[in-house]
Amino acid sequence: MKRFLSHSFLLQIAVSLLLVLLLFMNKSQGSPIRFAKYSFSVTTKVDALPPAIPPSSTQPQPFIPLLAPSPLIPFTNNSVPKLSGHCSLNFSAAQDIMTTTATDCWTSFAPYLANVVCCPQFDAMLVTLIGQSSKYSGVLALNTTHAHHCLSDVQKVLASQGANRDLKKICSVHPTNLTEASCPVVFVDEFESIVDTSRLLTACRKIDPVNECCDQVCQNAIHYAARKIALNDLSNSDGNHSLPWPTTRINDCKNIVLRWLANKLDPSTANSVFRGLSNCNLNRVCPLVLPNVTSVVKECGNLINNQTACCKAIKSYVSYLQEQSFVTNLQALKCATSLGKKLQQENVSKNVYNLCRISLKDFSLQGWHCHISLA
Ligand SMILES: *[C@@H]1O[C@H](CO)[C@@H](O)[C@H](O)[C@H]1NC(C)=O
Ligand SMILES: *[C@@H]1O[C@H](CO)[C@@H](O)[C@H](O)[C@H]1NC(C)=O
Ligand SMILES: *[C@@H]1O[C@H](CO)[C@@H](O)[C@H](O)[C@H]1NC(C)=O
Ligand SMILES: *[C@@H]1O[C@H](CO)[C@@H](O)[C@H](O)[C@H]1NC(C)=O
Ligand SMILES: *[C@@H]1O[C@H](CO)[C@@H](O)[C@H](O)[C@H]1NC(C)=O
Ligand SMILES: *[C@@H]1O[C@H](CO)[C@@H](O)[C@H](O)[C@H]1NC(C)=O
Ligand SMILES: *[C@@H]1O[C@H](CO)[C@@H](O)[C@H](O)[C@H]1NC(C)=O
Ligand SMILES: *[C@@H]1O[C@H](CO)[C@@H](O)[C@H](O)[C@H]1NC(C)=O
Repeated sequence: MKRFLSHSFLLQIAVSLLLVLLLFMNKSQGSPIRFAKYSFSVTTKVDALPPAIPPSSTQPQPFIPLLAPSPLIPFTNNSVPKLSGHCSLNFSAAQDIMTTTATDCWTSFAPYLANVVCCPQFDAMLVTLIGQSSKYSGVLALNTTHAHHCLSDVQKVLASQGANRDLKKICSVHPTNLTEASCPVVFVDEFESIVDTSRLLTACRKIDPVNECCDQVCQNAIHYAARKIALNDLSNSDGNHSLPWPTTRINDCKNIVLRWLANKLDPSTANSVFRGLSNCNLNRVCPLVLPNVTSVVKECGNLINNQTACCKAIKSYVSYLQEQSFVTNLQALKCATSLGKKLQQENVSKNVYNLCRISLKDFSLQGWHCHISLA
């Protein structure tokens, strides 16, 4: 059990991850990517997983976690939506991005593609819209009333282009996400008087997404700026720098920083920077909730009496996981590893993946394109 992933298999995963990133980023970014410098560090990270036995794997086919707008997407309802008339966001400033969002969040796929494709794009679009509008309004947030109207209008516009009607719920976006929340700085001038804007812009004007995930140059600059504006208010009011970091406030201020960037960058650049940033977070962990393994342990623990029953248990467990979410190939690998460790702790000592022919694709509904075998 312990040794269920081979070294060469891990290398393949590392390479395919890079390919995914390359394809994904080149598409959104058009920037050259320095491959050699970072392939090692990525490989090392993946390699930190348990050592393994030889694979019977075929060539991995990386899935590209971005749906480009395509003529195949049936925009079934192109009716002109009825808008509230109370949203001051300038939709025409980000028209292309809204179309991309509608495609990425296409009706029936949205719930499955949510974590990987739809919601990161939806979030990026909202930030871009507010940032672009701040060019005219001078404000980096909407007030509560406007936030309600705008979120509802945005949903209507996207739905009219084929997007799922319930993105608010699918992506857990509330009107408050369009306000300043707890961040004390909302005006563009005020922001620019506090933050070292040239440093921020230099770090984030253009990101190389592979390098960014490793170096976090832009992410650090965003964090630094967010801390600065979050702290600005505190140091004015009580001058107490030994207070613990107000994490919520810093997080809320990150949104303000992102919107300021979207004010300075053109909409499509802003969008691809934000997508690049969220992609760095995407692959970090297994996004699935692994429930307790009692049922598997019962059939597969210690000595396997009945292989059929054991495999039935593990397959039903894995298919339960499948229902939760689309996951990327790397996430699938991490999920498989986590479950493997969990089973091991419960004394399921046989390689049940091998025994029951469970493959990585079973952890990932993206298995359409993925033929990696775990065993
Ligand atoms: C198109 O959308 C409008 C308003 O959102 C709705 O009233 C209408 O029933 C929809 N038509 C179809 C064919 O889905
Ligand atoms: C909205 O954005 C478009 C495109 O960027 C621009 O031409 C137009 O002036 C803006 N309209 C308003 C009211 O800000
Ligand atoms: C919200 O902001 C808009 C301008 O963006 C303003 O017209 C409106 O009065 C504000 N509403 C509240 C409740 O502050
Ligand atoms: C929206 O705000 C809520 C808290 O008000 C937060 O839990 C949630 O993660 C935010 N959603 C996004 C997409 O940022
Ligand atoms: C600063 O905050 C800390 C922790 O809350 C507190 O112990 C300390 O007395 C405060 N110092 C001043 C100068 O207010
Ligand atoms: C595991 O889940 C089952 C039901 O799903 C429950 O009966 C059992 O107590 C749980 N075991 C542990 C160790 O949490
Ligand atoms: C093994 O389990 C299967 C399915 O649970 C059952 O149909 C079969 O009778 C069992 N075989 C033995 C030898 O117990
Ligand atoms: C696993 O096996 C070891 C040694 O056989 C035993 O000490 C431990 O309690 C077992 N753990 C579980 C969860 O059954």
